[in-house]
Formats: sequence, structure tokens, C-alpha cells
Amino acid sequence: MLLALILSSAALAQDEGLTLRMPAGLIEQGFDKQLLPRFGFKHRIRVTAVPDGEADMALGIDADGPFVFRDADGAEFNLAIESEAARDQAETFREWLASGPGKAAIEGFAPDGEQLFFTEIIVVEVEVEEVFEGDEARGSDLALLHCGRCHVVDERNRMGGIGSTPSFAALRGRGNWSDLFRAFYTHNPHPSFTQVDGVTQPFDPNKAVHIAPVEITLDEVEAITAFVATITPKDLGRPVQSN
Ligand code: HEC
Repeated sequence: MLLALILSSAALAQDEGLTLRMPAGLIEQGFDKQLLPRFGFKHRIRVTAVPDGEADMALGIDADGPFVFRDADGAEFNLAIESEAARDQAETFREWLASGPGKAAIEGFAPDGEQLFFTEIIVVEVEVEEVFEGDEARGSDLALLHCGRCHVVDERNRMGGIGSTPSFAALRGRGNWSDLFRAFYTHNPHPSFTQVDGVTQPFDPNKAVHIAPVEITLDEVEAITAFVATITPKDLGRPVQSN
């Protein structure tokens, strides 16, 4: 019963065969034998690989069609449909290549025990370097003047600062440090004693300010941020080594 089914499906496939042009090297390695029988068994469409000449479909780096897989060096292989008459069946093949079983067949190809092809597109992570336009030297002076009362800014006031207040090196080690510094005046405890020119509201006259206020402009905040960018972050995340 099963045999009859296979035979009849083979006979059917024989009639409606498609041709696929792919690089001769891939055929030599047996990539067509890895892929095409699996597809043929599932969809009863026989596909024959040819190394050159006219074909219903073309698989290759210069093929004009959607991405199918890439090699380890990132070269992308695409599938082009080149015959209008075969378009429906070719689309079935293309869909199968992009399906779970198709991808498994592609990724499972390892003629010498090593996977050659990958169906995920490499996502290139572009790290965007943050640009600090402020005047570092000015920021350095301003930080010592305004912030050094509570924060250890750097070695200049290493013994200063208020114990419980994080040092600038520690704050610099936080992932979002530049956001924190650009908006420090919105984070407690700063709002109670900080006036940013043209940004913050005047202090509530009914509430006495017990500490000398920090009066600063946005330009100066940017300068301080540019200065902080030059500080070596204190590594807070490293686990303690024990013997
Ligand atoms: C009067 C003391 C004082 C002054 C002056 C001061 N800070 Fe702070 N700052 C603190 C304290 C206390 C904290 C810790 C708050 C906390 O962790 O809850 C802090 C935290 C911060 C943080 C981290 C905020 C957060 O939400 O984690 C930044 C950034 C910061 N300060 C920047 C500055 C800058 C820039 C200046 C100078 C322009 C400055 N501070 C001046 C006391 C001060």
C-alpha cells in the first residue's frame, strides 16, 4: 500500500518535473540530493538540478529573487523563477524552502560534518557612538564647583563628597548614564535645590532651601555630560573573586 503510494507519486512527479539551475559545486557536494527528494516527497513535484543552461528556476548568489540562505561568509543565495509556465510549482518550491522542513533540510546539509548554509539573515549590529558636543574642560570645572559638594567627581575631590552619594565614576558605569546626567535636575534629590535657567520653575517661596542652590544652564549641563563621558567607569558588575 505504502509502496504503491510512493510509486504513483513518483510517476506523477515524473510528468510535471521542474528544472533548477544551481552552481555545479553544490551539485558535486550533493546539495541537490539533500533538498530535492525531500521536497519531491512532500509535494510530489520532481525537481532536477542542472549546472547551467535554461531552467525553470535558478538558485545562486546572482539569482534575481528572494533570499533563501547564506553561507558561513555571509554570501546570500536567492531563488529566481525563470519560467512563467512553471510559476505555480516554483512558488510551491520557494515556499517549501522557507518553511520549517525546508530550512531544516538546508541547515542539515553538512557534507563533511560541518553545516554550510544558514537560513537566518545575519543582523549586523551597528553601535551608534553617542556624540557629546559640550565643552569638556568647562564641564570639568562646573562639575567640581556644583556637584563636587556631594559627589566625588574625580581625584580632585576624592576625599570630598558625601558618603552615601554615588561617585561620578560609579554613575558613569550605569548603562543609561548620559540620560541620567542630561536630566539630573529631574532626579531626586536635585529638584529641591537645582535651578536650570529657562527650564525649572522658581523654588516654592514657602519651602526654605536649606542647601546652597545649584544654578545652571542647559549648556552647562551638556558640558558636564561631555566631561563625564571622559571619566573611566567604575566596574560595578564584576563578581567578587574568591579562592
Ligand atoms: C546636595 C548634594 C548634591 C549635589 C550638589 C548634586 N547631587 Fe547628584 N545626587 C545626590 C544624591 C544624594 C544622589 C543619590 C540619589 C539616590 O540614589 O537616590 C545623587 C544622584 C545623582 C545622579 C543619579 C541619579 C539617579 O536617578 O540615579 C546623577 C546623574 C547626579 N546625581 C548628577 C549630579 C550633577 C551633574 C550634579 C551637579 C550639577 C549633582 N548631581 C549635584 C546629591 C547631590
